[in-house]
This record gives sequence, structure tokens and C-alpha cells, in this order.
Amino acid sequence: MAGAPSSEKLWGGRFTGGQDPLMTAYNESIYYDRAFYSQDIRGSIAWARANKNKGILNDQEFAEIERGLKEVEEEWRSGKFSIKPGVDEDIHTANERRLGEIIGKNIAGKLHTGRSRNEQVAVDMRMWLREQLENIESFLIDLLKVTANRAEQEIEHVMPGYTHLQRAQPIRWSHWMLSYGLAFANDLERLREVKQRVNRSPLGCGALAGNPFGIDRDAMAKELGFDTLIYNSMAGVADRDFVVETMQWGSMLMLHLSRWAEDLILYSSAEFNFVRLADAYSTGSSLMPQKKNPDSLELIRGKSGRAYGQMAGLMMTIKGIPSTYNKDLQESVEPMLDHVKTVGDSIQIATGVLSTLNIQPKNMLASLSPDMLATDLADYLVRKGVPFRETHHISGRVVALAEEKSTPMDKLSYEELKGVDSRFEQDILEVFDYQKSVEMRSASGGTSKSSVLEQIKVIKQTIEKK
Ligand code: ARG
Repeated sequence: MAGAPSSEKLWGGRFTGGQDPLMTAYNESIYYDRAFYSQDIRGSIAWARANKNKGILNDQEFAEIERGLKEVEEEWRSGKFSIKPGVDEDIHTANERRLGEIIGKNIAGKLHTGRSRNEQVAVDMRMWLREQLENIESFLIDLLKVTANRAEQEIEHVMPGYTHLQRAQPIRWSHWMLSYGLAFANDLERLREVKQRVNRSPLGCGALAGNPFGIDRDAMAKELGFDTLIYNSMAGVADRDFVVETMQWGSMLMLHLSRWAEDLILYSSAEFNFVRLADAYSTGSSLMPQKKNPDSLELIRGKSGRAYGQMAGLMMTIKGIPSTYNKDLQESVEPMLDHVKTVGDSIQIATGVLSTLNIQPKNMLASLSPDMLATDLADYLVRKGVPFRETHHISGRVVALAEEKSTPMDKLSYEELKGVDSRFEQDILEVFDYQKSVEMRSASGGTSKSSVLEQIKVIKQTIEKK
């Protein structure tokens, strides 16, 4: 891209030589910060209005600026805005350049009085992010609703629960879904907190030291929908914590989604065969006709790495820079755009996967084995007053006996069990019942029906909390 003569640049006054064309391209952010065109224009209108109220602009000048800015916005919206290569360094300079062409440089030249792009970019980013986080919140609520609804409808189905990926104890399929559902509910709570800190206005902070014309920052913040101000002008232009914090939030969410996806990838394999993904979220193999691959889930898992990378990268970018604005901060824009898109898309894909997959309850049930009730056997004797450490041993001997005889534990005879420990009585055979096993775990947080219903209630309440 050609370097424009510096006289055409808005800050061209003290620069006489031309710019290295690669430097021009290296410096410009217009090809990505154009995403903020509408926020930039809304911010400029609020800025102009506040300046009119301070007498910096007269009514007619303000009206012209407002009219012109709306025209610029319309050009962006309709795809007619034409970026001047090498001149339009970023969205702020592009909008101001075009405003001057529409309403004349004399009036347009008054817009930037007392303002700096340092505050402007922070305003734009915060407004843009705030709007994106609203969308993301609604995507997350959809995911929680699907989780809660499925958990309610499919509460009957029992499957193996795993620790160390080894069969451990029977659980309800709903309990598995809700284990992630509760993590997502925490993500929702955290998101609502992050949103509050994003929605603070840096407008009126100036380049770093504040505004010399007594501008009404509160009025501008109110017009732009901010909750409150950033009360230190140096902090206002330096701060990208709102981006970092959003990405830390998003990374945690992606961590949850990635583990969730990993479970479902396993459960959809022929070895488990607990779930089948809808065609809408699977793809075939170009070579092996029989294959149906869980690409949606693999991409969620894969993109989580990318989301953390953006977060860690920005923290590295920021950690060493001195106070207030430094151009390094421009490097916060692309990670934010990419991260937010990745997270928003991933949640929606996850909701699509979960709302369309088919479960295979028969296979879930068939994967249970009586040895998964060994703890229940030990608990049986605990209820007869035997210390757990002892019952654990006794149950272990039953497991060993079953192995020795190549008989499933529930097919051992009453006499054989009695032979291991005389305190087993006839009703011991009732222990070998998976539904009974899950229903025993009825303390809050357990896998019984009542505990699962309680979890669903917790999720629904979190959604409503706001
Ligand atoms: N494009 C710049 C950014 O994204 C805007 C701020 C420029 N400020 C400056 N002093 N050069 O950070």
C-alpha cells in the first residue's frame, strides 16, 4: 500500500518526509477497527453535543456535524464507504476525513476539540464489546435452557459415571449434563460481573490528563448507555483490563465447553455409543464412507486453544508497557474481535449439538456392570453398623470372588455372599439395582431424581437472576 504524503494525514502538520509504505500498512488498523464504525459515530455525536452544551460548537455547527456523521454511518452500513488506502489510518481518522468531505473541513475540524483518539478507541471498544457480550449472554442462556430441558425430559436414563475414565458408579444421564450445566451457570454469573466493568465510560479522559473545557462526562456517558465513568483519565486511556477480563472469562467458558465436547466425542464413538450427533453437526470422511465425524465438537475443543492464546497473548503485550496510551494497545483489538467471535460461535454450536443429538439409553444401561455397585454393597453393611473401612474390604472380597468364579457379582448366590460375610442377609440381593443405586444418592448434589430436579431449579434461578 502506498504511503500517502504526510500533508494529507490528519496529524501531518509536523511531519515533512513521506512514510515507508510498509510502515503505513504496519501502523494502520482500519481494516479491522472498521468493526467499530457505528460506535465511533455514536461516540462522536455525543462528544459534539457535549461540546455544543459548553459553547465550543454553536447549534448550527452541531446540527451539521450530526447530519454529516449520520451520513457517514449510512455509507458504512450500506457498504458504500470507500476507505482511502494509506490515508485512513483507523476508524477514527476515516470517519473524520469523510465528515470533512461531506460538511466541509471548517466545521468538521472543530469536532475533535479536546478529544484524543486514545479515549476514542477505548470508548468504541467498550461499546462494541458491551453489545457483543449482550449477545453472548443470550447464547449462553439458550445453552443453559437446552441443558435444563433435556435433563428434565431424560431424567430416567442411567449410565456409567467415570473417574479416571474408568467405570465408577451409576449416574443419571441428566446428572452428567447438569455437571456442565452448573459450570455454565457459573460462567453466566461471571459474565454479568464482567459486563459491569466493561460498561464504564472513558470519554472525556483526553489524551491522558483530562478535558480542559469542562465537558460534561456524565451526560455523554448517559447518552451512550454507560453505567458509570472511569474516574482517572490516565487509567481511562491505559486500561485494556476490560478486554483481558473478557478473554479470561471466555477462556474459562471454552475450557468448560472443551471438556464437555471431549466427553461427547467419547460418548459418540462406537465403543461407548451413548449418543449420536445429528447430521447437521457432523461431517463425513472423504475416504471412508462409513464414517461420521464429530467435527463440531472437535472444533469446539480445538478453538478453545485459540481462545486462551488470544488471552495470554494480550496479557504479554500489555504487561511491560509504561503508563497511559502506547501504540502497543492497538494490538488489543484483533485478539478481542477474534476471541469474541470464537466464543459466541462456539456456544451456539454447542447448543445446536446438544439440542439435536440422540441418546441411546439401551447402550447406556448395557454399559453398566454389577461391580459398579460394589460401593452400594459396602454401604449395605454400613447400614448394619459395620465400620466402612471394614465393609470396603468385604465388598472387595465379593468383587474378587465374582472374578474368580467368572460370574457377575449380582449372579453370586445368597449363600456365596453369606460365605464372605455372615452379616449379609436375604435383602442383599436388592442392592443389585441401578435405579435403586442412583436413588440412594438423594442428598443435595447427588444423582437421585430429587437432587437432579433441584439442580435444574438452580440453573433456572441463575438464568432469571440477571
Ligand atoms: N488506532 C489506534 C488504536 O487502536 C487509535 C489510537 C491512536 N492513538 C494514538 N495516539 N496514535 O489504538
